[in-house]
Amino acid sequence: VKVIYVAKDGTRTEVKAQVGDTVMQTALDNDVAGIVGECGGSMMCATCHCYVDDAWTDAAGPRKDGEDDMLDCAADEVKETSRLSCQIQLTPELNGLVVHLPEDQV
Ligand code: FES
Repeated sequence: VKVIYVAKDGTRTEVKAQVGDTVMQTALDNDVAGIVGECGGSMMCATCHCYVDDAWTDAAGPRKDGEDDMLDCAADEVKETSRLSCQIQLTPELNGLVVHLPEDQV
């Protein structure tokens, strides 16, 4: 499947991903700047914060339990579409997923 990361400055990075991987892991594997994933996906850091593109919010599903609390710690503004990218697991339906990256994650 394909995931498209859009940086704050509009740069689009399109990467190939494996079904079952998370949006966070895929970013790290492909050196996509803007996703840090400090805690390795255990919902403890909020450095994998991203904004799911409006066209994809339904497909990506709702936030998981505990995601809201962790998002309170995110470095950037939390919006309706904010997600922790380590909690979005790729499925065939998410082929072409577009996520927007916050400015910084520290
Ligand atoms: Fe730490 Fe997602 S990688 S919360």
